[in-house]
Amino acid sequence: MDQTSAHWRRFHLATLCEEMALLFRERLRRKGATLTLELDRDLELGSFPGPLGQVLSNLIDNALLHGRDHDAQLHLSCREGAPGQAVVELRDNGPGIPADLQQRVFEPFFTTRRGRGGTGLGLTIVHNLVTGVLRGQIRIDTLPEGGTRAQLLIPTDLPESGAAPIA
Ligand SMILES: Nc1ncnc2c1ncn2[C@@H]1O[C@H](COP(=O)(O)OP(=O)(O)OP(=O)(O)O)[C@@H](O)[C@H]1O
Ligand SMILES: [Mg+2]
Repeated sequence: MDQTSAHWRRFHLATLCEEMALLFRERLRRKGATLTLELDRDLELGSFPGPLGQVLSNLIDNALLHGRDHDAQLHLSCREGAPGQAVVELRDNGPGIPADLQQRVFEPFFTTRRGRGGTGLGLTIVHNLVTGVLRGQIRIDTLPEGGTRAQLLIPTDLPESGAAPIA
């Protein structure tokens, strides 16, 4: 999968999610983490699978890096939201993000893991891709029951000619 160039394609969102799960299979296994999927198989997108794959990859990477060390559980789901909109969610059972840091996670170079595997660019790239080429929105919050939830709202049908350079 080419994650660096923005080629429009028609694709099943569930298939892309499954491909991402496969890419992380070995890392999940080594960490003893589980990733469960809950995917609407009918959801077809006319969009940019490369950038969307990059977004999911950065979010899964975060759940593994910042989530629980033991018994990490990740849950990835996709479904149709409002008409013409897909909702993709990744949840983890980690410590969540402290309220006072919530607003800062998209800032370039903001990381709580400096010198320990973080550069703080992952979510900046995610934000740029989601609000740029994918024409969507992203929200990251800490759930009342604990853990972090990243939620993407993206249009299911982008114009083929709408390719924008990746930030
Ligand atoms: N799933 C998560 N659980 C808890 N905290 C998170 C999670 N995802 C992101 N964060 C917080 O947001 C910060 C910024 O995330 P971001 O992906 O931009 O940087 P990073 O993961 O630290 O480094 P990089 O992605 O560049 O390797 C993280 O350092 C962490 O504090
Ligand atoms: Mg990251």
